[in-house]
Amino acid sequence: MHALAKKRHHKAAPLLLVIALLALITAVGAFSAPSATATSEASADDVVAGEKLFAANCASCHGLDAEGQDGVAPSLVGVGAAAVDFQVGTGRMPMQASGPQAPAKPVQFSQDEINQLAAWVASLGAGPAIPTAEQVDAALGDPANGMEVFRTNCAMCHGSIGGGGALTQGKFAPSVLETTPEHIYEAMLTGPQSMPVFNDANITPEHKRDVIAYITAQHEGSPGGLSLGAIGPVSEGLWAWLVLLGLIIASTVWVGARSS
Ligand code: HEC
Ligand code: HEC
Repeated sequence: MHALAKKRHHKAAPLLLVIALLALITAVGAFSAPSATATSEASADDVVAGEKLFAANCASCHGLDAEGQDGVAPSLVGVGAAAVDFQVGTGRMPMQASGPQAPAKPVQFSQDEINQLAAWVASLGAGPAIPTAEQVDAALGDPANGMEVFRTNCAMCHGSIGGGGALTQGKFAPSVLETTPEHIYEAMLTGPQSMPVFNDANITPEHKRDVIAYITAQHEGSPGGLSLGAIGPVSEGLWAWLVLLGLIIASTVWVGARSS
């Protein structure tokens, strides 16, 4: 056994393999890390850039200081970053045609610009923040409990599986099945238009995540695995997978080295 093993590979081969693997892991980590952290923490620069974007795209309705204009648009002081991320991130804002409801449309800003707008609006007054990746991670939620919460609080407007439904006065509750986890969380937190606000006393952050897990489970039934829109879990999954593989190989090498 000893002689055979020696013949099969060079003495340094396992070491080289581990080094190569670690290099690969570091490279992948370097690529995935910035995208994972990009959405957090607003800087002073973001606030300044956000104010400019706002003046050019939003102030005509909401006013230069975002205090709103009677009969045109509401004040945004205190609505928080979450409301901006939801409204601009789903394309509802900037609003175009006036109608019973501002519909979702193609998104007009990059996520960086949305974060800047959100940072500026958040700087005007305290309001709900954009949820963290952990708060909206469907994998951490309990879909069965989420179904209960959804049936009790959401199904009367959005339908029992979230497909959407008509409301009175030409309004409608849209389908929630294509909505990203962040935007689902933010919709609950900020209650857009005729949707009620579900603050953390009504539905705790854990239960909000359960709702996200339930909604996400609806489209896992359909083929096409990566349709969930978030890039995070993929790169994070790859990362975990590589680290695990590295550990397995390292321990194999270690066991092999001990027994020879
Ligand atoms: C054409 C006018 C118009 C423009 C332009 C516009 N908005 Fe609005 N906005 C509205 C109206 C009207 C509402 C309230 C009704 C609604 O929610 O649809 C609103 C609501 C909002 C809300 C929700 C407030 C809340 O209480 O939750 C946010 C956030 C918002 N706008 C941000 C923006 C941002 C950011 C821009 C620029 C990118 C923008 N809006 C551009 C008219 C406008
Ligand atoms: C009284 C009716 C009503 C209830 C109850 C309600 N919603 Fe809504 N919801 C709406 C309406 C109306 C909109 C559209 C608002 C808009 O277009 O700005 C909406 C929008 C949404 C959106 C955005 C969908 C998209 O991508 O366009 C999500 C997500 C959502 N709701 C989730 C929920 C969840 C989760 C619950 C339960 C915790 C809930 N809603 C309860 C009426 C309701």
